Amino acid sequence: MKNSMFRLAYYSHNHLPDDAATFAVSIQELLEKSRANNLRDGITGALLFNKGCFAQVLEGSLDKVEAAFERIQQDERHGDVSLLALDPIEQRSFPNWAMGFIGKSQKCAERFSTIGTLSGFDPTALNGGEIQSLLRDLALEEETAYQS
Ligand SMILES: Cc1cc2nc3c(=O)[nH]c(=O)nc-3n(C[C@H](O)[C@H](O)[C@H](O)COP(=O)(O)O)c2cc1C
Repeated sequence: MKNSMFRLAYYSHNHLPDDAATFAVSIQELLEKSRANNLRDGITGALLFNKGCFAQVLEGSLDKVEAAFERIQQDERHGDVSLLALDPIEQRSFPNWAMGFIGKSQKCAERFSTIGTLSGFDPTALNGGEIQSLLRDLALEEETAYQS
């Protein structure tokens, strides 16, 4: 069990400013810091932003994932942080992403609006595994969109 990997999923409510320009700068700062830390700690994952909510998947060793989540919970840029899942995994779903960010492309927005209609955009309606597969699908779509 020493080297086993874990996946943590949570969602939270945004406290960053609403206006698009400030939000974009704040997210950029947050992602740069997160990616540097995650590279150092061997953490991969994805962060989704939509309709005022964040959903994030972190995968890596248990001690590193728990330490990152401790810091994330204290962060005043979001609140009402709700843990959805913490499970052992066989392999990473986001091996190439120190922290992918989903929420930029038009395609992603369209895709999410369909999911929103189905789930009412309520992250509590999704469990950790569903959040993980949703983020993975959206990440792959977004990756494809940016490659073209
Ligand atoms: C929505 C959200 C997601 C975050 N994701 C990560 C992350 O994946 N990894 C990380 O180290 N910090 C993440 N952070 C930032 C942490 O809360 C914290 O500011 C940072 O880890 C502090 O790093 P430092 O101790 O090196 O200054 C996130 C913050 C927010 C609001």
